[in-house]
Amino acid sequence: MVDEPQSELEALQAALGARARIRQWAEGAELLDLLHAAASEGWLEALTRPVTVEDLAGLGGIPAERARRAVEVFLSAGVVREAAGTPETLPAFTLAEDFAALQAGPSGIRTDIALDAVDAARARIRTALTASAPYDWQEDALVVARDWGMLPSDASRALFGMAYAELPEYHARLAAGGPLLDVGSGVGGALLSTVTAYPALRAVGVERAGDVVEELRNRAKAAAVASRMEVRHADAQHLTDEAVYPVCYWAQAFFPHGTREVTLAALRRALTPDGLLLVQELTPPPDASSPAPLGATLDALVADCRDIPPVASAESLTAELRTAGFTDVTVTPTPVGRLVLARNGG
Ligand SMILES: C[S@@+](CC[C@H](N)C(=O)[O-])C[C@H]1O[C@@H](n2cnc3c(N)ncnc32)[C@H](O)[C@@H]1O
Repeated sequence: MVDEPQSELEALQAALGARARIRQWAEGAELLDLLHAAASEGWLEALTRPVTVEDLAGLGGIPAERARRAVEVFLSAGVVREAAGTPETLPAFTLAEDFAALQAGPSGIRTDIALDAVDAARARIRTALTASAPYDWQEDALVVARDWGMLPSDASRALFGMAYAELPEYHARLAAGGPLLDVGSGVGGALLSTVTAYPALRAVGVERAGDVVEELRNRAKAAAVASRMEVRHADAQHLTDEAVYPVCYWAQAFFPHGTREVTLAALRRALTPDGLLLVQELTPPPDASSPAPLGATLDALVADCRDIPPVASAESLTAELRTAGFTDVTVTPTPVGRLVLARNGG
């Protein structure tokens, strides 16, 4: 079928429509830029308490009118809210509840870390179409690990506890002291929450990025569990342990193409003959019958720039584990997503 030529008017209307969409996309980017500016000029810190537009203007020495407009942007984006005051006082503003939690960051999920991770993803996208762009996995390993790794706390233990409650055999082995092999430990979101939840548990964490290892070791000390853990700065593909671990958690979603098969073979050797391997379907894959949502396509492109396959469904993880020789592969829906548990084939 040959497309009808567009009339000049139709072409103009189409161009105007496309330009409107570019402008619409720009809103998110501009908002991010303003959030960056607010972080570096001390606004976010100041907004942890009620402050006036004049207070905020004073921070960077900008006119009150500019500060008022910026506050309006944050109000309409839901970043700030008007603080309760008296009719006699000037209106005051403070961070909305969720942004206040992100700024305070007791969970380890923090505004600066989230902004760094978004910047790192955008930097990857900018070089996505350049054949010569070098792939350097170490460049943003710490930024990504921090973005994923929550701090061990009652809340994080409750979150991981919801998963372990659905996996009685895995839970029993953790409670019996393991040892647990945690592969792709990052800064220890899963590892430290688990080790602090099970007082008898001993664990070995494996992480290939040096700066990430350093932060994980510091976090283990701060959580007072360093004596029950060994953190190895190593590539999991080169693990040489044999039949040591009755339980293993593999952060599969971060393992590049070409490393997965070798890693799984190493994990089979390291696990006891009836050892259990746990992996997580990170986000449910998009429905294949409808076009993938924009966010999923962008995530897959960023992952590809990092040489990582797009999100693996629990079904494809099941197939991958069976191919590697694991048996009794089960998929368990839990409040924290679908988990795939498999037994070492012996
Ligand atoms: C981002 S963390 C995942 C989250 C982490 N498990 C947590 O709960 O906080 C995944 C880590 O796997 C590491 N990784 C990727 N490939 C690896 C390999 N072959 N050997 C060891 N670590 C690897 C990455 O450097 C990254 O820090």
